[in-house]
Amino acid sequence: MLASRSFVSPARQFLRQAQHAPRWTPALRTYATAAGDKVAKFKGQKGNDGKYTVTLIEGDGIGPEIAQSVKDIYSAANVPIKWESVDVTPRLVDGKTSIPQESIDSVTRNYVALKGPLATPVGKGHVSLNLTLRRTFNLFANVRPCKSIAGYKTPYDNVNTVLIRENTEGEYSGIEHVVVDGVVQSIKLITREACERVLRYAFQYAQDVGRNKVRAVHKATIMKMSDGLFLSTAHRVAKEYPHIEFDAELLDNTCLKMVTDPTPYNDKVLVMPNLYGDILSDMSAGLIGGLGLTPSGNIGDECSIFEAVHGSAPDIAGKGLANPTALLLSSIMMLTHMGLHEHANKIQNAIFKVLGEGKTITGDLGGKAKTAEYADAVIKAL
Ligand SMILES: NC(=O)c1ccc[n+]([C@@H]2O[C@H](COP(=O)([O-])OP(=O)(O)OC[C@H]3O[C@@H](n4cnc5c(N)ncnc54)[C@H](O)[C@@H]3O)[C@@H](O)[C@H]2O)c1
Repeated sequence: MLASRSFVSPARQFLRQAQHAPRWTPALRTYATAAGDKVAKFKGQKGNDGKYTVTLIEGDGIGPEIAQSVKDIYSAANVPIKWESVDVTPRLVDGKTSIPQESIDSVTRNYVALKGPLATPVGKGHVSLNLTLRRTFNLFANVRPCKSIAGYKTPYDNVNTVLIRENTEGEYSGIEHVVVDGVVQSIKLITREACERVLRYAFQYAQDVGRNKVRAVHKATIMKMSDGLFLSTAHRVAKEYPHIEFDAELLDNTCLKMVTDPTPYNDKVLVMPNLYGDILSDMSAGLIGGLGLTPSGNIGDECSIFEAVHGSAPDIAGKGLANPTALLLSSIMMLTHMGLHEHANKIQNAIFKVLGEGKTITGDLGGKAKTAEYADAVIKAL
């Protein structure tokens, strides 16, 4: 009886020891704190011909067709860039599939790439190239704007949301193990460093695109430590941007409010951990008509890759039926990232004009135009 009263379980003993042991804390890097410093600032330089070189990964399936539309429109709009096309088809090196080094070197050299869809074999073959690119270039933030397209009616009008998702950790850290048979543990890893980086980028992005509100979406009521760290970091970073209003909202509340009426989100940039961002960004795309119209940017410390969110559409590949709008809008995000705002606005206005008129639109939007005919209409509207 006496013995049992003084018994301390091994788990509790371990916890006690851990509490008294000196804690190891990793040296955390602070992102861009010096005045004027920017996270993920575009570092590319114009060449002697006055043009930036941009890596172009045309991709699979409809990729080359929609990439051609981008090239034609850019050439007509005199955008000061030249394309460096690279092939990312995986090669077998020492028994492992990997992306050709030349393509990695091209993105590293140019700091920016535009990417068409890449087909991923299901259940066999090479690893997801999208994931490989994300890891290779540490693309820490995924930016997903969703703007209603005039002429393409959905149950929601005037949607104009911007969502920034942490892209490297959280629930997608890939740390899972079997504790005992029938019990699996998955670790949601959150670091202050990654939170700070994506949050700072969100404030910076808000500033760059003229939105004066940033809202962190979280579930710190339940995940008090992990989402708690994201939230406390958000409050700290917000102090450095006093001209931008900051608040926070619980994820479930955000979902409910967005599907009820998305327009109050039109003046905000939403920023959130990985899994929430993955789900909420597709939900936002649904508000404007699906993934086929939504652009995205994957922002890294050094390099950034802009891509359409849809896949390679093998069912219509090679038929000239593909809609290049999502890749075009992704390229507009790229131009904005590169500071080429005038060209970005000019092309974007032309795209929205053609879509709004609804005369020369592709089959997926209910029209009859071929990919090239739509691109020609955009060129005429420039
Ligand atoms: N970011 C990426 O690279 C990416 C994203 C999703 C899927 N994929 C890959 O793409 C392949 C096909 O995937 P899926 O069939 O699930 O999705 P998908 O997006 O390729 O196609 C879904 C449907 O949407 C249509 N569609 C898609 N984009 C279109 C466009 N621009 N214009 C007109 N119609 C369009 C297709 O014809 C199809 O009917 C798979 O190998 C998948 O792994 C790649």
